[in-house]
Amino acid sequence: MITLTVNGERVTRHVEPRRHLIDFLRLDLGLTGSHAGCEHGVCGACTVRVDGEIVRGCLVLAASLDGAEVVTIEGLSDSGEVADLQANFVARNAAQCGFCTPGMIMTAADILAHAKEAGGGTPSRAEIREHLSGNYCRCTGYQAIVDAVEDTLKARAEHA
Ligand code: FES
Ligand code: FES
Repeated sequence: MITLTVNGERVTRHVEPRRHLIDFLRLDLGLTGSHAGCEHGVCGACTVRVDGEIVRGCLVLAASLDGAEVVTIEGLSDSGEVADLQANFVARNAAQCGFCTPGMIMTAADILAHAKEAGGGTPSRAEIREHLSGNYCRCTGYQAIVDAVEDTLKARAEHA
């Protein structure tokens, strides 16, 4: 049995030792916002936050997370933490098929959070690209995604 906090709610479940976090979230908890793509740690579609840091849900065993705090795209959306980023994704047409989008938003949220910790400086487009490089998107060519992240960073820096 493990007990963890998922999107602010305490959850206690029996998990098989080899159950990966992404399957635990999707299949056991019904949180299907995070996607399973490659299931080998390559594509980033399964990105979620564990204890404040982003991880690949397909590489982490759920059984290892007793006591952890997990945030999925559902929790991130509900909290409003990235409402501006999501609006910019829409405005910039940064989601085409949308399969990569939840993982992209989780990773972009990490860029925003770290920029804030670093004192509000705005990372360059190259730095944004570097940070997003572990998340594969087959549709957008990344241009629109980088635009959306950059717009959000700049707007937050202006209003800080
Ligand atoms: S499904 Fe986890 S990195 Fe691709
Ligand atoms: S929008 Fe389709 S993979 Fe990114």
